[in-house]
Amino acid sequence: MFEPVSVAREITGVGRNLLLCGDGAAPLCPQLQPYAAQAQCVYIDPPFMTGDSFTRRRRFGQSGWKTGRPSPEYPAYADRYGTREAYLAFLRGLIENAHRLLNRTGVLALHLDWHTSAYGRLICDEVFGEELFLNEIIWAYESGGRAKKYFSRKHDTILLYARTKDYRFDLRRVPLERTEHRKNHMRRSVDENGRAYSEIKTGGKVYRYYDDAPVYPGDVWTDISHLQQRDPERTGYATQKPQKLLDRILRPVVNNGDLVIDLCCGSGTALAAAQMLNCRFVGVDSSPEAILTTASRLDNADLTIDCPCTLDETRLEGMYTGPGGMLLLTGFDAAHPSFPRTEQAMDALESWSAGHITDSGFIVDQTFRRTTRQPELPLFCLLAEGRGKPGVSTVDAAGRRRVFKWVEE
Ligand SMILES: C[S@@+](CC[C@H](N)C(=O)[O-])C[C@H]1O[C@@H](n2cnc3c(N)ncnc32)[C@H](O)[C@@H]1O
Repeated sequence: MFEPVSVAREITGVGRNLLLCGDGAAPLCPQLQPYAAQAQCVYIDPPFMTGDSFTRRRRFGQSGWKTGRPSPEYPAYADRYGTREAYLAFLRGLIENAHRLLNRTGVLALHLDWHTSAYGRLICDEVFGEELFLNEIIWAYESGGRAKKYFSRKHDTILLYARTKDYRFDLRRVPLERTEHRKNHMRRSVDENGRAYSEIKTGGKVYRYYDDAPVYPGDVWTDISHLQQRDPERTGYATQKPQKLLDRILRPVVNNGDLVIDLCCGSGTALAAAQMLNCRFVGVDSSPEAILTTASRLDNADLTIDCPCTLDETRLEGMYTGPGGMLLLTGFDAAHPSFPRTEQAMDALESWSAGHITDSGFIVDQTFRRTTRQPELPLFCLLAEGRGKPGVSTVDAAGRRRVFKWVEE
């Protein structure tokens, strides 16, 4: 039979990358200390002091994943700090940690909006030094409502600070896609090598722009929109940012194998971008919902997940035929007021992993998830022999993680 146990740490592969459920603003905890002065980029997209609460939408069971039916929302995090002072202490904690974690060529990207960007700038000037300010990037978008009593607030601010004057930044890694620029007022011509250009004379100088010369972004970005409702990239996490935005932030700063740290990782956008750029990564978030969203998004990554699990009366039923044998799940009775009545016995199960419970944590052998392409969850596997006790870790449709150990009756 399967018996519930409490195992916080889950390891896939050799566990090279870390997802930690914890406080990114507190003095570095033992799990983060080894990363001091190691990161090439630290990205922080903290709550913006809005006073709101944010959720994650989830799908329920096979039919929910098949039809994409509107899904229940579960609390992800509250952006409430009581006082401005409390918020500023939190923001300062994050910035000071970024300063500790960056290596000498590293860069901080701090993502804020009109609520707090002025404070962020002042704290960064103090912690990093004014002379290490690189950019105030304006990320402008069109989505959301329109104001009537003032101009609509349609941009976020991303502050870039270098850790030292020896920082690394290669703008050539983010050429813009070529679009037809409006150069109607310029003279069009072709040079002796057949290259087309536009030219303008102003203030006694001649400016020539070749059509085939790369164009790089300035500090106002208008070409990246917020994710649409039906964008396949969407995880259901309320404040998810587009991966294209994070790709543009990281690309000029990191190389293959560099370490990227996100101290408020949310749905894991920066980490997904880092993974695409072949970087190692560490993600921290105080919300278990964020850590589990990120973990499911970074499928196949070499991961150590450090996140508390639920220990309750929920029963997992099934059988295991012995070392190297078959592991089969037959029942899972997790309940939640949001769960609809369902005919399907295993609908409350969103994903599960088979593996072994050891002193260092739950060592994952295989993971199964519902996806839009495959809404039906496989319920058995062959579990290779391994160190420790055979076991199963589950995530239910309300985002609660549990671990069960197999014990012979
Ligand atoms: C704006 S969201 C980040 C969104 C993320 N960039 C994404 O694309 O999904 C802010 C995150 O900060 C997290 N957070 C709040 N307080 C925190 C703390 N003390 N330490 C770490 N994370 C925290 C919240 O749980 C939330 O996930």
